[in-house]
Amino acid sequence: MIDNPYLPHLGHLTAVEPLGTGIKLFKVQFDDPAVARQFVYEPGQFGFLSAFGVGEAPFGITSVAGIDQTVDFAVAKVGTVTHALHEMNPGDVVGVRGPMGNCFPMPEIKGKNVIVLGGGIGGAPLRPVITSILNDRDNYGNLSILWAARNPSLLVFTDEYDVWRQAPRTQLHLTVDEGNASWSGHVGLITQLLQKVAPSPDNATVIICGPPIMIHFAIIELQKMDFTSEQIITTLEAKMKCGIGKCGRCNMGEKYVCLHGPVFRHSEIKDFLESFV
Ligand code: FES
Repeated sequence: MIDNPYLPHLGHLTAVEPLGTGIKLFKVQFDDPAVARQFVYEPGQFGFLSAFGVGEAPFGITSVAGIDQTVDFAVAKVGTVTHALHEMNPGDVVGVRGPMGNCFPMPEIKGKNVIVLGGGIGGAPLRPVITSILNDRDNYGNLSILWAARNPSLLVFTDEYDVWRQAPRTQLHLTVDEGNASWSGHVGLITQLLQKVAPSPDNATVIICGPPIMIHFAIIELQKMDFTSEQIITTLEAKMKCGIGKCGRCNMGEKYVCLHGPVFRHSEIKDFLESFV
């Protein structure tokens, strides 16, 4: 086990799967079984994935510890590191630093109705929230999943939608900003879908992940529906280097996204969020 937090744990890719246009799922198995045992994480935490010789970048972990045998990351091809990762194949060696950051308050939301809003690849950290709830279904209330993307080819985790739909007390609502010839579902922004679904704030918690602009406008809609800032939980993205609160790269006011986040209650970040959008 490596104690230096700047050194990645070595692993290899057991699978590289397409998730959407320009988006792939990378499944990592650690080479050292002791690392695999000690790499314990919760929904919402993130890790740095390295393409050796190119660099590393932070990604939300999309698997569930103790259920999935690998540590999984959903990666959109948007920069140098992600381009290098997208060239990789099963069997290739990668590095992982983490787990880092805080997590969604899963014990606190037990017994509550949960509404999750996911936008594009930014919604990937919600997959472990959904899986955790479905694997412990009796301990949570109603689950409403509002899932959005710019177009149908960018909807992620599509092969899990039937499982989500068929789970007890669970509804999946999809929307895309722009449809195509084969799309017969809802077309429009996630805020419009939110108005249509109109979830009740009674005994409810909302978890939102996606681009900051989506989070900002979704929260405005939720507040019109009488959700309080305490009921709204979100994640923030930031430029990161160290991931452990040392470099100051991810600061947001007095907080560091890597250390105090990436999960925040809306009441903690509303001033920042308004100036950011
Ligand atoms: S990434 Fe260095 S302080 Fe957060």
